[in-house]
Amino acid sequence: MPRMRLDKLLSHLNCGSRKEVQAMIRTGRVTVDGAAETDPAAKVDPDTACVALDGQVQRYRAQRYYMLNKPAGVITASRDERHETVLDLFPAGERRGLFAVGRLDKDTEGLLIVTDDGALSHALMSPARHVSKVYEAVVEGELARDAAERFQKGLALRDGTECLPARLEILSEGAETRVRVTLREGKYHQVKRMVAAVGGTVVQLRRVQLGGLLLDPNLPAGAFRELTGEELELLRQPGVSLG
Ligand code: URA
Repeated sequence: MPRMRLDKLLSHLNCGSRKEVQAMIRTGRVTVDGAAETDPAAKVDPDTACVALDGQVQRYRAQRYYMLNKPAGVITASRDERHETVLDLFPAGERRGLFAVGRLDKDTEGLLIVTDDGALSHALMSPARHVSKVYEAVVEGELARDAAERFQKGLALRDGTECLPARLEILSEGAETRVRVTLREGKYHQVKRMVAAVGGTVVQLRRVQLGGLLLDPNLPAGAFRELTGEELELLRQPGVSLG
């Protein structure tokens, strides 16, 4: 779709008359892709721009964005003959056009975005964009003393595959070790394989963050809800840095 004036788009979206939306824009209540835009004549692409008024994303097309707390035991696929899939957790009437952004293993729990927005999915999964992903894991076995440094330098997996620098934080030690792992890429079984490379075995894995978006702690496993406008904007921003 051709680019159009921001004030025209907002009035088409029933946010107010042309005059009213111009005042809203000038007073800083409108953001485009997460940044304040105070020029009513700014040109935006209604198909791809994330335009928000007072933090609420104004949808030009009625696209759907859900946060799912994936339970263990379901596979990240749209349809499967033998296994329950993440889409089976949605009512049949809502599934059409939806897909999961990225993939979690069958036994991994936690944050999964389910949407019908292919452009957002592509942007989040693009290897060039390095969107960060944060996992919490329960680990058995003894981790190498220099495990965190090796993660930070970018370690090689047992098969020789090189990983980008990542962060390993030990949350607690004892009968079981709890760790937090922050990655900027998404190789197959990456957390399990990185932990294995430093001597541990992941026995439980949960994703808690994707880019700037946190898993809602009040969302039970197996449940989903729509993303708020603010959450959608967080997803459109670059990932958190490894610090
Ligand atoms: N790393 C893994 O090992 N498994 C996942 O599901 C996600 C990241």
